[in-house]
Amino acid sequence: MPTLAAFLVLLLPLLLSAVGAAEAELTRGGFGFKATLTHVDANAGYTEEQLLARAVRRSRARVATLQSLAALAPGDAITAARILVLASDGEYLMEMGIGTPTRYYSAILDTGSDLIWTQCAPCLLCVDQPTPYFDPAQSSTYKSLGCSSPGCNALYYPLCYQNVCVYQYFYGDSASTAGILANETFTFGTNDTWVTLPGISFGCGRLNSGSLANGSGMVGFGRGSLSLVGQLGSPRFSYCLTSFLSPVRSRLYFGAYATLNSTSASTSAPVQSTPFVVNPALPTMYFLNMTGISVGGYLLPIDPAVFAINDTDGTGGTIIDSGTTITYLADPAYGAVRAAFVSQITLPLLNVTDTSVLDTCFQWPPPPLQSVTLPQLVLHFDGADWELPLQNYMLVDPSTGGLCLVMATSSDGSILGSYQHQNFNVLYDLENSLLSFVPAPCNLM
Ligand SMILES: *[C@@H]1O[C@H](CO)[C@@H](O)[C@H](O)[C@H]1NC(C)=O
Ligand SMILES: *[C@@H]1O[C@H](CO)[C@@H](O)[C@H](O)[C@H]1NC(C)=O
Ligand SMILES: *[C@@H]1O[C@H](CO)[C@@H](O)[C@H](O)[C@H]1NC(C)=O
Ligand SMILES: *[C@@H]1O[C@H](CO)[C@@H](O)[C@H](O)[C@H]1NC(C)=O
Ligand SMILES: *[C@@H]1O[C@H](CO)[C@@H](O)[C@H](O)[C@H]1NC(C)=O
Ligand SMILES: *[C@@H]1O[C@H](CO)[C@@H](O)[C@H](O)[C@H]1NC(C)=O
Ligand SMILES: *[C@@H]1O[C@H](CO)[C@@H](O)[C@H](O)[C@H]1NC(C)=O
Repeated sequence: MPTLAAFLVLLLPLLLSAVGAAEAELTRGGFGFKATLTHVDANAGYTEEQLLARAVRRSRARVATLQSLAALAPGDAITAARILVLASDGEYLMEMGIGTPTRYYSAILDTGSDLIWTQCAPCLLCVDQPTPYFDPAQSSTYKSLGCSSPGCNALYYPLCYQNVCVYQYFYGDSASTAGILANETFTFGTNDTWVTLPGISFGCGRLNSGSLANGSGMVGFGRGSLSLVGQLGSPRFSYCLTSFLSPVRSRLYFGAYATLNSTSASTSAPVQSTPFVVNPALPTMYFLNMTGISVGGYLLPIDPAVFAINDTDGTGGTIIDSGTTITYLADPAYGAVRAAFVSQITLPLLNVTDTSVLDTCFQWPPPPLQSVTLPQLVLHFDGADWELPLQNYMLVDPSTGGLCLVMATSSDGSILGSYQHQNFNVLYDLENSLLSFVPAPCNLM
């Protein structure tokens, strides 16, 4: 990191070649918008097997980021959190408009980071993206931020050049972006509910590396003040993710539209809620208090300490993350779940290869005339029980033909991934610091 920072200082004069424009004001009240989310691998013609393999590879990168924290000396943990956020690969892209006149881009929605950014022209170093770079010189509402602005102060590594705030942001997979912190008018929503919001602080990236998965930037939905949620006065959003293999796009609801009322009416299951927990070492991420796991109606004997956040170094705990596909459980918890599945499922256990991420797999289809009962899986949280439908935790892996548990082991904390959120409406209510969820037919919303 110091190398990039030093390099950046040399490039500062080059970064500053665009001019600012007039400032706009807006009071933000009870607004909201609805948006569609496109899976990063949609429309690329991948087979089911390729889709799974790609999702698993991305999930691994995000888990590796978390685990890299565990290798640090205790005193360094907080500093590390300031440098590293989860790996930049996400799972869902969201449409957004930037500037005046509006240019449209799709950006990775990321609940594991804060910054909103896109690649800007003229670019010193950019990665491939499907649309032309955003050019601040062509927008009448672009305004770079000064070094004493609140946005600049919210950065962990601000640099200042001729009183212009220069940002640098590092992702755990060694992707990074650096450029000018600026205010701009953003447009979010869909054709019927576009909302235009002036004065959104964002990173105009001139020096970028890593992968953008066919997006043109990122929209941070984390808990920090620079995220979209942090910048708008309506800190609630929800999403409803369609089935992983469905061509129907998923939905995001922001602000006033983020409510579970309409969906709870259509199902008999009650809305469940559990408080968010703050981990000072990773303040951006949405930690939950997982308390236990039941398989086939039996509460597994897992020491609650397995799910706890270590107060000394910030490792452990449970994150909910829309950017990780499969769920990772801390070693001892995964071992207990695996053992329970093996003892309750009468099918032969498959001998999977070392490289396979899903390693709790059974022979499939079952022998003729044999009836198979698959155990129910419930994740217990402080105040809520997340009873998963079968299709949210078992799948037939096309590469082996085996019936596999869609979970893997983690040597650090646990991550509740998006595969487990399919066909649930999931509400992040930051005002009340609660995560709520209810089953919902997401393809019909
Ligand atoms: C908006 O509508 C246009 C045509 O009316 C369509 O081509 C485009 O895909 C729509 N965009 C979104 C985000 O729905
Ligand atoms: C940037 O936007 C914020 C939020 O709308 C506003 O408070 C601030 O004054 C703006 N700064 C500039 C330099 O336009
Ligand atoms: C981008 O999309 C194209 C097709 O739409 C696909 O072939 C390509 O693999 C995608 N690239 C990445 C990095 O996802
Ligand atoms: C819907 O939910 C909102 C916020 O959760 C609540 O204020 C409102 O009363 C609810 N409306 C109905 C009809 O239940
Ligand atoms: C918490 O982290 C510290 C420092 O890494 C370590 O010494 C300690 O054993 C950990 N505590 C638990 C309960 O794992
Ligand atoms: C599983 O694979 C290992 C390593 O290849 C082998 O030693 C073992 O015998 C296999 N077990 C079964 C039941 O096939
Ligand atoms: C987690 O939930 C349990 C059970 O409700 C509670 O006793 C514990 O204090 C909670 N821990 C945190 C960190 O909130």
